[in-house]
Amino acid sequence: MTESKAASFNNAPIGVFDSGFGGLTVASELAKALPHESIIYLGDSARCPYGPRDLDEVNTFVQQITSWLVDRKVKLIVIACNTATAAGLAHAQQTLDIPVIGVIEPGARAAAATTRNRRVGVIATKGTIDSGAYTEAIRAIDPQITVFSVPTPRFVIIAEQGIRMAQGPIESYTSLASKVYIRPEFEEIAREYLIPLTQCNIDTLVMGCTHFPLIKTLIGGVVGHDVTLISSAEEAARDAASVLEACGAQASPDATPTYEFYTTGNDIEEFRSFGSRAFLHELENVYHVDLPQ
Ligand code: DGL
Repeated sequence: MTESKAASFNNAPIGVFDSGFGGLTVASELAKALPHESIIYLGDSARCPYGPRDLDEVNTFVQQITSWLVDRKVKLIVIACNTATAAGLAHAQQTLDIPVIGVIEPGARAAAATTRNRRVGVIATKGTIDSGAYTEAIRAIDPQITVFSVPTPRFVIIAEQGIRMAQGPIESYTSLASKVYIRPEFEEIAREYLIPLTQCNIDTLVMGCTHFPLIKTLIGGVVGHDVTLISSAEEAARDAASVLEACGAQASPDATPTYEFYTTGNDIEEFRSFGSRAFLHELENVYHVDLPQ
């Protein structure tokens, strides 16, 4: 590769996607950890939620989105959705010429490193839990760990609903979140899902869905301070940094990053305003996209 070709590859964006807003929690960590890297984000809002769908169908979505991102000349793809990781990471890694990482392995690693009593809970969509991907990944690291998994599909709806209910500036979203989410009806659902897990004496709980960091106050309030909550976002950002370093594909330190956001949904303004709450910065360049089927 000539020097200028290598520089343009290194300054190419990282492609990130999810079924909607959830993956913006991962994109936000990527932007923090890799401040010179550009990002192209796609939220497949038109087909959200992925969780209740058949994994083969979600794998097809993963193939459509990754090929769209490859056409946009991304240098690395981060599947910022656990359900899509469970359904399509292996296939994407086998078929694409660029590196692809998911969020399950990073979350599993963080959980295995955190637990002291080797009793780990995992909450995620039905698709992710049914795939067994977390149990497999955690036990591949430490077979002595017992994993207690619970599908919590209504948490995706609460996260999406809550992000719409919040008002006020983005900077105060995290503090506002406690007021938005700690509502009797949300708490009741959270207790129903989480109390049985706390009775299993877990000391670590993996939020195995990228929407769940948005409702951390609700989840943490029910499980209490003795249970450490794991989000794979930070660990996935560290993985992305190591992959870029290993390939010698980091953006140059004087590169000014650009961020572009695409939604398959029809309401760009809605994606801009609610997405800003998950990304924790204003989303400026937001566009609609129709994916080739
Ligand atoms: N954010 C997706 C995940 O991490 C789930 C949301 C959905 O069901 O689409 O699994």
